[in-house]
Amino acid sequence: MGVLNSALEEGLGAVRVIKAFNAIPQVIKAFNKINNRHQQLLTRTFRKKELSSPLNETLGAFVLVSIVWFGGSMILDDVTGTNLSGAEFITFIVMFSQLLRPIQGVANSVGYIHKAKVSLDRINVIFDTDEKIYEAENPVKLDELSKELKFEKVSFKYKDEYVLKDINFTIPQGKTYALVGESGSGKSTISDLLPRFYDVNQGAIFYDDVNIKDASIKDLRNHIGIVSQESILFNDTVRNNIIFGTENASDEEIINAAKIANAHEFIMNLENGYDTNIGERGNKLSGGQKQRMSIARAVLKNPSIMILDEATSALDTESEKLVQDALEKLMENRTSLVIAHRLSTIRNADNILVLSKGEIKETGTHEELIAKKGLYYNLCTMQGYF
Ligand SMILES: Nc1ncnc2c1ncn2[C@@H]1O[C@H](COP(=O)(O)OP(=O)(O)OP(=O)(O)O)[C@@H](O)[C@H]1O
Ligand SMILES: [Mg+2]
Repeated sequence: MGVLNSALEEGLGAVRVIKAFNAIPQVIKAFNKINNRHQQLLTRTFRKKELSSPLNETLGAFVLVSIVWFGGSMILDDVTGTNLSGAEFITFIVMFSQLLRPIQGVANSVGYIHKAKVSLDRINVIFDTDEKIYEAENPVKLDELSKELKFEKVSFKYKDEYVLKDINFTIPQGKTYALVGESGSGKSTISDLLPRFYDVNQGAIFYDDVNIKDASIKDLRNHIGIVSQESILFNDTVRNNIIFGTENASDEEIINAAKIANAHEFIMNLENGYDTNIGERGNKLSGGQKQRMSIARAVLKNPSIMILDEATSALDTESEKLVQDALEKLMENRTSLVIAHRLSTIRNADNILVLSKGEIKETGTHEELIAKKGLYYNLCTMQGYF
């Protein structure tokens, strides 16, 4: 059932791709296979289950008849050596018939136990997965960042191969640092280490002077706002998507956040304004609108640290400019880590880290890096920046 459900969900989620690639027959075939398997299993289960009751009854009746016949003839024939009286025998029969039901119950439970065991196996797969992020025993409370965020000799691997190697940098409080580099160089990975979605394999990350492994995870994440590469929205109203994670926000605050994210205007044009349902994963909105919703959510949370991963990638040039202005205002007095492919969006950063194959190859401001004529310069040239 679980496999069937996930196949169904995946199919529905990917319906556009399936249609676009004319892959409907393949998907139907794959679904039919799983569905038939499920049906076979169900039929087998039902057969056994339905069979067990008549089988038990018949056997029970048969045994009872045999006992009555055997015991009855023993008493009636008065076989020598037996001291079974009629009264005793009847008591025995009554007790025996009372025992039949529980015995049948045991037979049925064996069936249930098998069924439950299968479910248990599936549940255990989840329960037994190693929770990789542990909170320290006496977690340190974190106040607003006052000094710096520091990556010290950080190396990280998802599986066998290190995707980040010996990363060292320090973001002073209130500064904006940008990460650039080719696709797959490890930018998103760095931004995932900060809120402890993963833990570093070597080295450490410090929040002021606290190793984030010793800090309260809740505090840490409370201070961080994230606008991620994929906008993650829920099948709910615009309002609820924006206040997600920030309870007790007033309407005024919500609208204000939406305005900063340049989302207020399009939201007002939706049929029910802030009460419009945005559909599953926000599919009633355009890509850029989804991004502006995620930005509004981060704005409302008002954290002291901001992580923006390609936050403006799905915006047209005009709204990109507007959102960019808003973000710049937002990043003032905040410590920010910005990831962008488009170099025009990060040229104002206080420092730029150029990443390649998991290593920091160059650092400096836009002008410094341009003057260096290294990797960054090449990236700019490729984008036709000059
Ligand atoms: N969950 C994961 N499991 C295993 N490997 C992963 C996982 N996520 C990323 N990787 C690998 O880690 C490397 C760095 O990925 P990352 O997402 O950090 O790149 P990126 O710099 O953000 O790229 P992009 O610009 O395309 O977003 C890649 O080689 C990628 O294949
Ligand atoms: Mg990325």
